[in-house]
Amino acid sequence: MTLRLRRGSSLAVASHNQGKLREFRDLLGPYGVKVVSAGELGVPEPVETGETFEENAQLKAVITAFASGVPALADDSGLAVEALGGAPGIHSARWAGEPRDFYRAMERVEEELQAKGATSPERRRAKFVCVLCLANPMGAAQFFEGTVEGHLVWPPRGEKGFGYDPIFVPDGYDQTFGEMDPAKKHAISHRANAFAAFHAAVLEGDAGQD
Ligand code: IMP
Repeated sequence: MTLRLRRGSSLAVASHNQGKLREFRDLLGPYGVKVVSAGELGVPEPVETGETFEENAQLKAVITAFASGVPALADDSGLAVEALGGAPGIHSARWAGEPRDFYRAMERVEEELQAKGATSPERRRAKFVCVLCLANPMGAAQFFEGTVEGHLVWPPRGEKGFGYDPIFVPDGYDQTFGEMDPAKKHAISHRANAFAAFHAAVLEGDAGQD
């Protein structure tokens, strides 16, 4: 399937994470796409039983498209740390425990890096990965992937982002994502890169004044 979204189209965003919802609204608003969230639609958060970012994104998008009757966009994302074999990866949210505590998750990453003697920036390479899945209410799906490479610092710095932002410094910058203005992060993030692929394939028209 190749689905196209034009100005005025409705799109259900299959996320309950307020930080991500805010980013999606910022990214989609200029194209005049009406964003409604899974929470507003009363669609519960599914258990993420997939073993890859793709499987988890598809699971969330398909459930939300079925429930809403309009196309649904889901992302599955996370932090992949090279020295930790790609962990926490699809388990990024779960490393924060319940209730979510990302300081604890960042501390766990740091402890595991210290245990491996990973102290130099080269040994602390990491990337954020984002896979977007767009599903129509019939269940057909399209995927778009984006990454942003960088390294991890300790202690955490900045309070502007969410999740692991305070320990991630993207290549070419000195600030962490937690210290960066949201507009700057949105221009270079994994979600922005995945969104650029989504935009090229799916969105019609130009960014306007909506
Ligand atoms: P999920 O995609 O909702 O399963 O969760 C992804 C998790 O990865 C989030 O809860 C964050 O911990 C982390 N994550 C994803 N994107 C970002 C980001 O842009 N900044 C910081 N952490 C992120």
